[in-house]
Amino acid sequence: MGQPWKEAADVIRNRAGGAAPVLGITLGSGLGDLADEVADAVVIPFRDLPGFPASGVTGHAGALVVGDLRGTRVALLAGRAHYYEHGDAAVMATPVRTMAELGCGVLALSNAAGSTRATMGPGSIMAISDHINWSGRNPLIGHPDDSRFVDLSAAYDPDLRALLAEVAEAQGTKLHQGVYAWFSGPSFETPAEIRAISTLGADAVGMSTVPETILARHAGLRVVAASVITNFAAGMQAEPLSHEQTKRESARASANFRALFAGLAERLG
Ligand code: HPA
Repeated sequence: MGQPWKEAADVIRNRAGGAAPVLGITLGSGLGDLADEVADAVVIPFRDLPGFPASGVTGHAGALVVGDLRGTRVALLAGRAHYYEHGDAAVMATPVRTMAELGCGVLALSNAAGSTRATMGPGSIMAISDHINWSGRNPLIGHPDDSRFVDLSAAYDPDLRALLAEVAEAQGTKLHQGVYAWFSGPSFETPAEIRAISTLGADAVGMSTVPETILARHAGLRVVAASVITNFAAGMQAEPLSHEQTKRESARASANFRALFAGLAERLG
């Protein structure tokens, strides 16, 4: 296996110039407009980056944006690929490793998610405190050396989570804390699955983020992650679940989310 992330990092350094980014950011469904806040932005389509996946999901742009976010040099993945598109849990391995190769110390992940908690409705933002990998997949399967035995006991960095909570408080945004469960998708969960996973300790469910967290910890990146709640999970709301609802509700919550991640970037500068 080659090391496409080294080539991708070279392309990015050549095109973006300037200082190395210190913060990587991944934007979830409908949350792409944080990229509009990046000053002096250089936009590089994923197709120009070796090893970067095509994302065919509506609401996901598929470009890397490098620039300054509130004074902090960032590399922002506007769009991600999902396991359910490719059947490959490691589909985000190259983008994540490219972040590390560029010199980012922190990866801030975001997603749209369903809530299993009656008190955390659409429009809420939840800092991920831990995860349940319910997919049975792992992006490090097949990785050839002992580095694959990654410790996930503090996968979501407690200090970064505290910092995110401080930023939220200063902005007057309620920040929930909770456990995110990864389902493979692309079909939504059944009500029985939601009752089961809720009993097992999940506060939110979604189809991303967990493989990226595992890859990031493997690459030595510190991780902070937030879910934008777009719906109550299956069986908990009258409206049928749909990607339309995900996009609509994440767009509605995106102002708060955008302020939160911009504030985080500012504090990490
Ligand atoms: N389940 C899985 N993924 C999701 C959901 C959900 O309810 N909402 C947004 N992404």
